[in-house]
This record gives sequence, C-alpha cells and structure tokens, in this order.
Amino acid sequence: MNAFELHNPTKLVFGAGKVSQLGGLVKPYGKRILLVYGGGSIKSSGLYDDVLEQLSKIGATVHELSGIEPNPRLSTVNKGIEICRKEKVEFVLAVGGGSVLDAAKAIAAGALYDGDMWDFTVHKAIIQEALPIGTVLTLAATGSEMNGNAVISNWETKQKRGLGSKLIYPQFSILDPKLTYTVPVNQTINGIVDIMSHVFEQYFSLTTDIPLQERFAESILLTVIENGEKAIADGSDYDARANLLLAGTYALNGTLPNGVTTDWATHGIEHEVSAIYDIAHGAGLSIIFPNWMKFVYKERVSKFVQYAVRVWNVDPAGKSDDEIALAGIEATRAYFTRIGSPATLGELGINDEQLDRMAEEATQFGPIGTFKQLNKDDVLSILTASL
Ligand code: NZQ
Ligand code: ZN
Repeated sequence: MNAFELHNPTKLVFGAGKVSQLGGLVKPYGKRILLVYGGGSIKSSGLYDDVLEQLSKIGATVHELSGIEPNPRLSTVNKGIEICRKEKVEFVLAVGGGSVLDAAKAIAAGALYDGDMWDFTVHKAIIQEALPIGTVLTLAATGSEMNGNAVISNWETKQKRGLGSKLIYPQFSILDPKLTYTVPVNQTINGIVDIMSHVFEQYFSLTTDIPLQERFAESILLTVIENGEKAIADGSDYDARANLLLAGTYALNGTLPNGVTTDWATHGIEHEVSAIYDIAHGAGLSIIFPNWMKFVYKERVSKFVQYAVRVWNVDPAGKSDDEIALAGIEATRAYFTRIGSPATLGELGINDEQLDRMAEEATQFGPIGTFKQLNKDDVLSILTASL
C-alpha cells in the first residue's frame, strides 16, 4: 500500500428535506451571496424558491448567475468572477449538477486571483485563495459535491481542462435524494456510467495487497449496478436514488485512492471528446471505457479476473484467465447497453476526423495512465476502436 494523507473538510448533510438547513449553513460565511445554477431545472422543480426562502431568512443579498451549461464554459465562469468582484461576494452557493458545482468552484478561485482563471488549468498558476462555496446537489454523478476538483471548457480553443485545490472543497453539501427525482432518464444513465467510471479509474491499479480499497470499490460498483437500474425504472424510488447519490459521492471523495496508484487515462481521453463535440461526459465514458479495458487488461489479467468474478459473477469454471477477464469486460459493455448508454462514437454522430487531434491533446503533457502508460498512438487506437 502506498503512503497517503486524507483530509476531506466537506460537511455532508444528507436526507429528505435537508434544504431546510441551508440558511443556517450559509450564515457563518457572510450575507453577500452569488447563487449559481443551470438552465432552469431548479426553477421547475421548486427548489429555487426554497433556496431563496432560506437565504432571505438570514437577510442575505443574493446575486444570481444562471445558465451554467452542461460542460460549463470559461466565458460563463468569467461572468461569475466579474459579479463576485463587483458585488464583493462573500460566499458562492451552487445549486444543481456537477457542471454548476464545477463552475462555482472555478468562480470562487478566479474571483480572488489577479489574472485569467484558465491559468489554473494549464499549470500557469496555483490556487492560493478562494471564496468559500457550498452546494445543493441535484444529480448523482460527479462527486464534485465532496472533492476539490472542477472541469471547465474553453469553447474558443475547444479545450476541456481540470483545476484542483484543497481550497475549493465545498464547505458543505446538501444531498436530498428527492431532489434527484426529476433527473431525466438520460442524465440518470450518464450519472451511473460516470460513477462507475470513477471507481474503475481507481480500481484498475497495479498496486497490490489493498483488499480493503478493492472491496470498497467493488461494493460501490455493485450498489450502482443494482440501484441504477431501479432508479431508471422508477425515478421516484427513494432508496434507489439515495443509494445512487451516496455511491456517487463516495466514488470520488478521496476514499478509494488511499494508498492506491490510480489511472485516470480514460477520463483524460473522454474530456478531449466532449471538449470538441460537447457530448455528455457519461456518454463518452460509456463508449471509451470498455475499449480502454480491452486495450490494457493484459497488463494485470488477475485484476480483471477478480473484477469479472466479484462484480459480474462470471463463472470461472473451465475458462482461461483471459476468457474470464474478457467476459467481465463484455458484461460491462452489456450493462451499459442494457441501461441505454451508447457503445460507439458513431451513435453520437462522431467520425474519425478529429481523432488525431484528440489523441495529441490527451497526451500533450506526456503519456497518460498508470495501469498501462498510453502514448499518442495508444490513445488513437482506443479512440479508433470506439468509432
Ligand atoms: O442546467 P439544468 O437545467 O439544471 O439541467 C441539468 C443539465 O441539463 C440537468 N439536471 C441536473 N439536475 C437535475 C436536472 N434536470 C432535472 N432535475 C434535476 N434534479 O442535468 C443536465 C446535466 O447536468 P450536469 O451538471 O452537466 O451533469 P453532471 O453532474 O453529470 O456534470 C457533468 C460535468 O461534470 C464534469 C464533467 O466533465 C462535466 O463537465 N466532471 C466533474 C468532476 C468533478 N468535479 O470532480 C469529475 C467528473 O469526472 C467530471 O469530469
Ligand atoms: Zn467522470
């Protein structure tokens, strides 16, 4: 097991009706609030009114930034930074899915930086300070509610890049499973695939003798596989939504990578696809991940055998290790297809035109991944297999 440090400062407030605690949670941070949200789902669900009521109870002055795009744009983040500076905002409140949360984090860091926020994503600057943020999450997917990462898209340059700092962990996140009842089926599916992919990135590792981390990862996968299908069948199934929501948080809140060398190549590749084609992150992962698995599994077949047997109940009797491993990968693909997630880039109208550019961008800082280090040609092979 590798050495590690763990410190996650986010206070999780989980359960039905917990938005009633929002005012009290915001109060210690000040009264000048920037409320960040997306394209309107929080207005149709009634959550917007509940949030404003909470903020009015503490006498807050609320400035709003709406219209955060899925795959949030740098240009929109910059609007939020402007508001924070002009209105001397003290606290950024994100209400929505991962895109809204990520935009809020970028705004919080950019507001106190004397320069272009994009610098944080291209290693030109590191975050030295940030406004405090809080979140009310409405979609189980990214884990952004309890981590210090954000992913922002620069639409002019067609680049999608991440920033990260301990300074942009949310101070608190409210997770009410009922707020996810209105998530449409396609976004529920994208979320399921994203959560599973976060586990894959940390599970398929060359680190050995980590049974606890492996069991954590496998239990999240089993929970998502079972409850994901239930949530798709009945969007108002409280237990299914609750289990999905918690699984999403634990998949990327720093629990799984403790002592483990993690990979993240597939996320790097997917971000290049969604940077150019603006597809949903989960849809891109659904296409690429099984192809990544096939490309790399021989690096440590035993891990893929364990995955096939423990997660997909593949019967090992009479099969070679390679056959068991491949059966687990096929089971992954079959599950994604069964829940309605895409298997090829062609299904999303993407052809081979930009594959070379995507492979180039994904490896611009050198080879990616650790399970198998991937150079540009490797990434191109995976993308080509994904067509
Ligand atoms: O904009 P609104 O109207 O709110 O609608 C959203 C959006 O259209 C809708 N939605 C969210 N909650 C809803 C709802 N609709 C009805 N009822 C609700 N309760 O869902 C759509 C997608 O929302 P979005 O926030 O884009 O989805 P998600 O949470 O999957 O976030 C995706 C973004 O997060 C990044 C992705 O790259 C992508 O940009 N990621 C962030 C990570 C992180 N910060 O740690 C890690 C991930 O790997 C990922 O890269
Ligand atoms: Zn992801």
